[in-house]
Amino acid sequence: MRNEDMDEFVERVRSQSDILTVVSAYVPMKKKGNRYWGCCPFHQEKTPSFSVVPDKGFFYCFGCHVGGNVFKFLSLVENVSYFEAIKLQAEKLHIPLPERQKTPQEIQRDRKLSELRKVNEMARDFFHNCLTMTRYGEAGKAYLAGRGIPDETIEEFRLGFAPNAWDKLATAFLRRGVDKELLLEAGLVSPGKDSSRVYDKFRNRVIIPIADERGRVVGFGGRVLDDGTPKYLNTQETLLFNKRRLLFGMDRAHRAIQQMGYAIVVEGYMDAISVFGAGVRNVVASLGTAFTVEHCRKLLRYAPRIYFCYDSDEAGQAATMRALSIVRETGAEVHVIVVPDGKDPDEYIRKHGAKAFEALVKKAMPLVEYRLQYVLGHTAYDTLEGKVRALHEMIPVLSGIRDAAELLEYRKKLARVLMLDEGIVASEIGHYAGSRDPGPQVQTRGRPAAASQDNALRRAGRIVIRTAWQDVSVLAHVRAMLPLDSIHDEAQREIMEFLFSCQEQGKPLDDVAATESLSEAAATELSRAMVETLGGREEAEAYHDSIHVLRKAYLNTLYMQHSRKAEEYLRSGNPGYREELAEVQKIKEEMDGLQIG
Ligand code: UTP
Ligand code: MN
Repeated sequence: MRNEDMDEFVERVRSQSDILTVVSAYVPMKKKGNRYWGCCPFHQEKTPSFSVVPDKGFFYCFGCHVGGNVFKFLSLVENVSYFEAIKLQAEKLHIPLPERQKTPQEIQRDRKLSELRKVNEMARDFFHNCLTMTRYGEAGKAYLAGRGIPDETIEEFRLGFAPNAWDKLATAFLRRGVDKELLLEAGLVSPGKDSSRVYDKFRNRVIIPIADERGRVVGFGGRVLDDGTPKYLNTQETLLFNKRRLLFGMDRAHRAIQQMGYAIVVEGYMDAISVFGAGVRNVVASLGTAFTVEHCRKLLRYAPRIYFCYDSDEAGQAATMRALSIVRETGAEVHVIVVPDGKDPDEYIRKHGAKAFEALVKKAMPLVEYRLQYVLGHTAYDTLEGKVRALHEMIPVLSGIRDAAELLEYRKKLARVLMLDEGIVASEIGHYAGSRDPGPQVQTRGRPAAASQDNALRRAGRIVIRTAWQDVSVLAHVRAMLPLDSIHDEAQREIMEFLFSCQEQGKPLDDVAATESLSEAAATELSRAMVETLGGREEAEAYHDSIHVLRKAYLNTLYMQHSRKAEEYLRSGNPGYREELAEVQKIKEEMDGLQIG
């Protein structure tokens, strides 16, 4: 298939797709002016902050800040990739996908993946039938009953049992014509000493099927019935089974995660099963590996918050601390659910019931609080050396607090518990923040005035973007008023660059091209620009005001630069000061002449 065919296909699907019609199939929308409002399907809310402007083709939620075009909406709500969303919509509209010649390697890989999925699904059914319909399953049934797992849960998770025999699965599958190599590759059997024979990998274990996000079985965990080792045997890494990426339960949990606004991460399969059984459905478990950045990113696609609920023993606490440090750089908002007694969430629920567990979730601790308690619990801070160590453990966490009042509170608290002077704590935090790249968090922290000015500039930037999007001819004016590097917001700068390059190449602006070329952050900002109201002003007036607000901020920086230089020259007797002063004067005049409505 040629590229042009694909472009034409996407264009056709796009031109026949009305964003309001598509969105309305999922969310009831109400008209207000030239836009429509509804309750956001991506986070939980009671008053609508999710808006669609049909003639612009964009949606944006002012509550959780997701936005995009019609395909982005579909990809989020259906949990598929952007391209798959286009295909979904094409199917609905009966637009055929252009034919494409795949390479032989691609064809082979696709075939292999689909064979692996199929054999895994067969194995899931085999184990499940063994458990529920044959006498081989009796030991498994007794085990699950002993753990208080009801039949509904067995059905919901399609739990199974691997018979206590060497090759029940192998024999059955080979007889049904499944290739031996495929069984080996799927990790369902292991080669015997004599290479002509294979043995079942899972024997005499309760089987927990593990699925990908879309519910396709990709592997299994098998638990022994007694104290044997290993306690859990898992599918080896295969083309489908990647522990760094997979989270157990994601297929069931993702909608709930999206709705609730957070995911609960537990350590064990059985924990996830119990928590889910208790009616808390936004739960996933990592697969016996540490929590990874990939896991975190996957969860962040559904919600901005992650609650860790690990075992309450020493190992569980250490694992929580590791997980916390993994997610710190990803921007996730983290809480910790502390299970007070009973080793893990599963045992807690069995002992105290679902309601008690829900109460624990409500009492989840913010990250900083948890770290503080952990550090205090693990450091002997009665010596000066211990105090300093505890302080240094806490500084990176405190430095990450964005809210000025909250930071102040923790600073006080830490000083009080460690019996240190608050000034010392403050200066250590300042020192740490100063030694790092001054990212946006550090720049605006504790300076609400600066932050709100920044918001005004961002808003003005969006209005300029919106106007330019509708009429590229204003770009010449924009260029004359604002050098690109005077736009501080990275996403907005990226959008402006994109607008300029489209204009230079004479390319038409459309939401599909923008979504494909822009980063996630920039595409979201663009959607916001298109959906945001103008505060009652006419389009032209809003543009005029905004460009002047931005120009003024730009002139302000220039003014500071030149005054500083003039001062320096004056002090050192450099005659260049005259030129600098003239420049300062000129800038000042222009600033005074700017009219902002
Ligand atoms: P735990 O040892 O905490 O087990 O391991 P658990 O979940 O409480 O198990 P039960 O309640 O005794 O049945 C946590 C997770 O670590 C992985 C599994 O994913 C398990 O759910 N694990 C553990 C293994 O993969 N292999 C093992 O041998 C043990
Ligand atoms: Mn357990």
